This record gives sequence, structure tokens and C-alpha cells, in this order.
Amino acid sequence: MLKNAGLLTLGLALLVPGSGVWAQAPASPAPAVEEPLLKTTPYLQAMSQNSVIITWHTSRPAYSWVDYRPEGSTEPPMNAISSTYGLKDVGLVQKITLSDLQPGVTYTYSISSREVKEIQPYKFTFGKEVTLREKNGKPLSFTTWPEEADTFSFVMINDLHDGIEKHANLIRATDVPTAEFVCYNGDIVTDKNQGEDIIKFFLQTAVDSYAWEKPFFMLRGNHETRGAFSRNLHEFFPTQTDQFYYTFTYGDVFFVNLDCGEDKTDDSKEYGGLVDFDSYRSEQIPWLEKVVQLPAYKNARYRVFFCHIPPAGGGEQNVEVDLIKADGSRETQTDFSKAWHGEKEIRDKFLPILLDNKADLLLCGHTHKLLNCEYRRGNDCLPVLINSNVDGVRIEVSPERIFMKVVNQKGEEVITKEVRPRSEQVRVAPNRWQKAGKALVQ
Ligand SMILES: [Fe+2]
Repeated sequence: MLKNAGLLTLGLALLVPGSGVWAQAPASPAPAVEEPLLKTTPYLQAMSQNSVIITWHTSRPAYSWVDYRPEGSTEPPMNAISSTYGLKDVGLVQKITLSDLQPGVTYTYSISSREVKEIQPYKFTFGKEVTLREKNGKPLSFTTWPEEADTFSFVMINDLHDGIEKHANLIRATDVPTAEFVCYNGDIVTDKNQGEDIIKFFLQTAVDSYAWEKPFFMLRGNHETRGAFSRNLHEFFPTQTDQFYYTFTYGDVFFVNLDCGEDKTDDSKEYGGLVDFDSYRSEQIPWLEKVVQLPAYKNARYRVFFCHIPPAGGGEQNVEVDLIKADGSRETQTDFSKAWHGEKEIRDKFLPILLDNKADLLLCGHTHKLLNCEYRRGNDCLPVLINSNVDGVRIEVSPERIFMKVVNQKGEEVITKEVRPRSEQVRVAPNRWQKAGKALVQ
């Protein structure tokens, strides 16, 4: 349960002891009307075939639990709590892991929080206790990912930059509730100093529209690494590995979420000498080299990578980039002299591993321009879709192809792109995903 240690830290960091009573920081006057204890409704994180982390926020320190059971079951519900070092977690971010779930099963659940006003030796003062069982008049529920799925869809949204209305529009335009998950590919929020603003500018829209029943993955862009709250961001978006880079599988697809870091050099004045992203990107190289040796990677029908910042072309390996236009014609880029440091780092540190190991697709954002590309190195070719800051991408996966449809905020098609399977030879026997969905490489 060590991974929950941060939860405790965040909660306590926002509290001060006063006369033996935990209270909000004295600079904040007591509100005339007490806020509801549940600050948000739940959102699903780190979903897999067997587990999920149900996450929500409370307006005051609380400890929490989840009751859950398969839909339609008349058995008493199972109960899950969160504790660290034997102590139940008390804080403002509630994260309850449900493990040992069955694949492809729908579960109904309720969330409960009990306010903790005071902890002293042998003396405890509790406040309100609140339970939420429904959302929009229906029981809270989710369905674990199936063991096998030949055909499914997911959504990529990126570069919202605090755009609340744009977010709501793109959720509708890409029909998120009928997809299996959303990958937010960076720069969703801009340079945040406090968690309140993550809720206001991003989370509220997600929890209001779909996030209690469908999971999302939050990848960092270069703007999630700025501002004081960048150091607490993981508290809001837990992963199975406690890292921002990790893998997961859905059906026949092996997904890799890379963490791009900043776009400028570490010594740039914008970062005040407080970043270390060259080392951080280097740290991902041996991890990535292990990932591509996994049987699950080798046997996957498709290998899909996410990285907010797209790689530059050129470099020692002389990577060429073809821009594919709407009419199918190509323009080959050869001049990368104006590439930024982050783009070159990703080209030099990540791209060769993707090309060497026949990645099928790289999905990026960052440029605020829609670019349909192919990166080529000799006979190696990597399809890359760089989405704009105004559109969303609905991706349909089937045995025949990965089909990407970029749509605008009205749901109108902007472009499409497809990727075919590398070879029928990579297909392997069923039940190969027995361990799928677990954190495959720590
Ligand atoms: Fe960016």
C-alpha cells in the first residue's frame, strides 16, 4: 500500500494543527455555508482486466471506502479501503483500489467518505459521513476490460489548455461514453499552482460526463510539468506503477505511454534550475528496451505508443518525415534545424527503439497543428498522427486495421488515417492475455 503514501501527504500538507484540532489553514476564513463533503463524484483510473482505482475528492480530510459487487448479484457487497503502513488513509484525495476483479464483468458500486476532524491519542472527532450510489439517476457502475477483444474503440484528446467548453464538445464529438477509454495526451491543463484548478479546468467536465463508468489516462505534456502543483499531479491521476510512463493492454493491442518531459533544455530560465528531464528521458530508455522484449509486446497485433511531444526527424539515424496531405500526396521534410530540444531528445532516445521494434503507431499532440505523418529510416516506417489543439480523435481497432477519425468539436470529420496489421504471422493463440492489464514492467 506504499503507493498511497502520497495521498496522506497531500491531505496533511493542506492542513495545520491548531490547539490539537486539525483545521484548514488559518488564512482561509470559515465559509458561511459548509461545502458538501464530496467535492467530486468518482473517476476511474488504472483500469485493467482485474483491477481499477476509484478516485474522488473531498472538501475536508476524510477516510473512505467502496462497496461493490457484480451487477445483479444478491450477495452482500465486497468492501475496499485504502491504508498505508497499517493506518487508514486520511486526506483530500480518495483513492480506493479494487483488485481481484473478474475480466469483462459489470460491477455496481458506491463510494463513502467520513470526515475526520481531529485525531489525538485515544480521541477522535468525526464529521459527516456521505455515501454516493448513483449518478444521473443510475447506479454507479463500470465494466472491467475483457480478456479478449478483437474490436473496440478509444479516444485521444490533447492540448485542451484549460478549455472547459472545448473538452465538453470533444467528449460529445468523439462519443466518449461508447468508447472503452480516453487517453489525454498532454497539455490538458496549463501551468497549475493548485489542485483546485485541475478540478475546475479539467476534472469537473470528465466526472460530470463519463468518468465514473469509463476510465481515462492522463499523460503529461510540457505544461503539466510547470507550476507548483506539477509536483503533486500524480496524486490526482494514480497509475499501476506510480510512474507517468507505463504500459497497458486492451484486447490485441499493446499500449505504451511515454512521458515526454519539457520542450526546452533543462537549464532554460523558464525552469529556474529545478528540472532534470534529460536524465528522466534517459531513465525511460532501459525501461522501454525491456518493454519491447516482452512476449505481450512481441505477440500483440498492434503496438500503439503515446507521447505528447512528437520526435524531430534527422539526427544521426537520418530519419525522414513524410507529411501526408488530404489528397494523399506527400511532402518529405528534411530540414530539422529548427527542432526544439525536447523533440530532438525524443528522436534520439525513444524513436530508434520504436523503429527497431516495429511500433505500429505513435500518437502525439503539442504542435497545435494536425499532421498526418510517416517517419522513415531506411526500410523502417512508423505511422504518426499529431493531433491539433482543437480536434479530437476517435480510434476504432479491428483485426483488419486501426482506423483513426479526427473530428472537430461539432463531430464533423476532418481527416481519417488507418494502419494495417504488420503481418498475419504475429497472431498467436487465444488466452495469450492472461496477465494482460497488469503493470507489465515496473
Ligand atoms: Fe505541449
